[in-house]
Amino acid sequence: MHDPETIHDDAPATNTSDNRPFDDVLKARMGRRAVLGGTLGSAIGAFLVASPATAATRAVAAGPKNQAGNPSNKATIGFTPIPLYFGTDVSVSDDYTSDVIIPWGTPLSSDTPDWSYPPTSAAAQADQVGIGHDGMWFFPLGGPQENNDHGLLCINHEFGTNKHVFDDDEPQNAEQVTISQNAHGCSVIELMRDDSGQWQVVQSDRSRRITVNTPVEFSGPAAGSPLLMNAAGNEPQGTLNNCANGYTPWGTYLTCEENYNGYFGTEDPDWEPNETQGRYGFDEIGFEYYWHRYDPRFDVANPDYAGELHRFGWVVEIDPNRPDVKPVKRTALGRVKHEGAATTVGRGGRVVVYMGDDERFDYIYKFVSEDNYKSMIAKGQSPLDHGTLYVARFNDDGSGDWLELSLNNPDVAAVFSSMDEVVTFARLAADAAGATPMDRPEWTTVAINEDVYCTLTNNSRRTEPNAANPQAPNPNGHIIRWRDADHHVGTTFEWDIFILASETEDTDHGFGSPDGLWADPDGRLFIETDGRQPPFPPAEEGANDQLLVANPATGEIRRLFSGPKDCEITGIAVTPDRRTMFINVQHPGNGDGGKTLFPYGVGDVPRDATVVLQRKDGGIIGS
Ligand code: FEO
Ligand code: CA
Ligand code: CA
Ligand code: CA
Repeated sequence: MHDPETIHDDAPATNTSDNRPFDDVLKARMGRRAVLGGTLGSAIGAFLVASPATAATRAVAAGPKNQAGNPSNKATIGFTPIPLYFGTDVSVSDDYTSDVIIPWGTPLSSDTPDWSYPPTSAAAQADQVGIGHDGMWFFPLGGPQENNDHGLLCINHEFGTNKHVFDDDEPQNAEQVTISQNAHGCSVIELMRDDSGQWQVVQSDRSRRITVNTPVEFSGPAAGSPLLMNAAGNEPQGTLNNCANGYTPWGTYLTCEENYNGYFGTEDPDWEPNETQGRYGFDEIGFEYYWHRYDPRFDVANPDYAGELHRFGWVVEIDPNRPDVKPVKRTALGRVKHEGAATTVGRGGRVVVYMGDDERFDYIYKFVSEDNYKSMIAKGQSPLDHGTLYVARFNDDGSGDWLELSLNNPDVAAVFSSMDEVVTFARLAADAAGATPMDRPEWTTVAINEDVYCTLTNNSRRTEPNAANPQAPNPNGHIIRWRDADHHVGTTFEWDIFILASETEDTDHGFGSPDGLWADPDGRLFIETDGRQPPFPPAEEGANDQLLVANPATGEIRRLFSGPKDCEITGIAVTPDRRTMFINVQHPGNGDGGKTLFPYGVGDVPRDATVVLQRKDGGIIGS
């Protein structure tokens, strides 16, 4: 009940536009497949062909028509898979090792105290690894020579409940609020692999924290907008509820602000959310952090801080190698509940960013830079400041349209009169444009063959069964994929369903609630989960969250790793040679030491931590 995403999942859907729900579109599309394929059963079966390989493999969608032109498949998956795991520690393939690093509270410099519980001070937490490990990426050090043993890990700290962070449901003083705030944000952590293959923290000036209180700046259409100003005159500070991530071709990290609404609240009994506040889910108590009682920035009813709530919900760029440069909120990418920011280079060298907005019945977005990203940087422009924001409409016939979110679009211009409004209220602009409401878009990733995948984790409010998801509600989610026209820069696409998680239930290799997602350069797809796993209710208790590896070209899928009870597996980063992979165990035991004490060894509460995966034979991860 204290997991913000659980609270978030129980909250009313905020999209009251009458845009056609995605399940309707899917129903129509699957209906068409049923006609083409003969029967409904064969339509579903076409996605889930029984594997001809061992019982340890599971077939997934072998590929829709947009797989044509798939380059030669190098995505071998040779490791020994693990069965569903129900334990209190971790489980990993016999072919791999797993090591725990950087648990919550790990000090980043030698003069910062080691972790103790409850945390000793806000100042200590400000230089210790945060909680709620989520999206991350590894930036090798050592100049142009890619370094596989030494680099900077940028990592998000999405959330930690008050009960878990300082052992009290409500803060009793400002110090506890600041401890909570400093446990959120991001870390930049220098890591080195020693001769024995163990990864260690290097306590150095390069290791640092970015918290809710770190100075930041804004760029793009909303920079300088009155919408982001406070009468209090406070400078922009902080990043919040940092969920998934991205990484740019020019070597920077993108951290994405998701359920920031949950940190605002008020004691004012007369306050009611206005239309835009309601659309972004602001209410009196949020996720019960109560920061507003000691920090007026987070009092949603305080007129002196009326712009503060517009300062969150952005994609934030961090230069791991430049601690002197403030994190920059790139407002051209829109203000939503950003899950991630999957970045690729499209036709003409334009940078393209795909983004999910994780809420029931919210949307999938795309940003395309105005010009070749190298030319823009050479002119002193950020490719993430100038370009076009789009939102996706999925049509019944398998086609799709990217709808422009600017005043060039008459549907948007009918509602808004300036671009700072359009990006700050991107959800409302997308409502007006006619985007397709989806089943909670989480991570996106771009495959080597230009297919884009997006996890639709689940949707508890689905009311009508349909051919694609016969369960109502749909508790297990699915993964959609599409391919854009014109090498990612076009305004149309072809889409299909990659896999329906509910259809994996009867296998030893099933999963539910797909969330984290990463396509490797060989064509493998890594899938992480956050939610209930098989066997699905009303059977016995479901298994723990997990990491699976799929080969979309062959339909094979294998389970590589599972975490402890009541955790989420999230975040993926690799060294350049892909012989080390970092993943995260988030909220083990949901913070309850009675369920697990992962990662074991210190204290009587579980701690979020990063897990290092390496093949025993030194091979590429997933192979
Ligand atoms: Fe932070 Fe929607 O996951
Ligand atoms: Ca979660
Ligand atoms: Ca997620
Ligand atoms: Ca999730």
